[in-house]
Amino acid sequence: MEISTQVICLLFATHHTTSSVITFILKYLAEFPDVYSKVLKEQMEIAKSKGPEGFLKWDDIQKMRYTWNVANETMRLTPPVQGTFREAITDITYAGFTIPRGWKMHWNVNTTHRDPKYFPDPEKFNPSRFEGKGPRPFTFVPFGGGPRMCPGREYARAQVLAFIHHVVTRFKWEKVDPCEKVAYNPSPIP
Ligand code: HEM
Repeated sequence: MEISTQVICLLFATHHTTSSVITFILKYLAEFPDVYSKVLKEQMEIAKSKGPEGFLKWDDIQKMRYTWNVANETMRLTPPVQGTFREAITDITYAGFTIPRGWKMHWNVNTTHRDPKYFPDPEKFNPSRFEGKGPRPFTFVPFGGGPRMCPGREYARAQVLAFIHHVVTRFKWEKVDPCEKVAYNPSPIP
């Protein structure tokens, strides 16, 4: 039971999350041609600098700034992980409720990412939110925060950006069903 629990956890943590982000980046790129053009431009410049046989290197990943902003805006609106659990280490008061020390709490990614105080017009897909210094600390938390923050985040970034690079430089696509609904299971899937 212990081994199977660990394996399922690993599959969820590594596969569901990354594949969900990639899926929704493709969805948003199909919906916003202006965003798609900028991603394509950035990725074509990198592809041209490498030639047909050149492999992507770590330095190339660092150049994919706009594409990563698009990935971040995707994770803001459709976060792969909906939150995790924490334990109150002291008595705290939040929104008029007292939470005693030792209680377990669930912190929620979706509502944090849709707070209009930090993300004006929160429902709008706008990758420019991540330009410059980007959102304030702990307002954008797709990978969590603090000592238990996702240890796979840099690997996930490289994987997502490499995948998007190869897709946009080879294919153009459109949504088959423009009214496709999103289900949460627990990561979002079409
Ligand atoms: C886009 C992809 C991913 C997202 C959005 C994501 C998100 C998260 C979140 C929200 C947490 C909880 C953090 C917290 O409690 O503060 C977490 C934990 C974790 N993630 Fe990821 N993750 C992703 C990819 C990965 C990958 C690729 C790996 C491994 C290769 C991984 C391994 C882990 C592990 C082991 C934990 C538990 C860390 C701990 O409790 O100390 N994740 N992840």
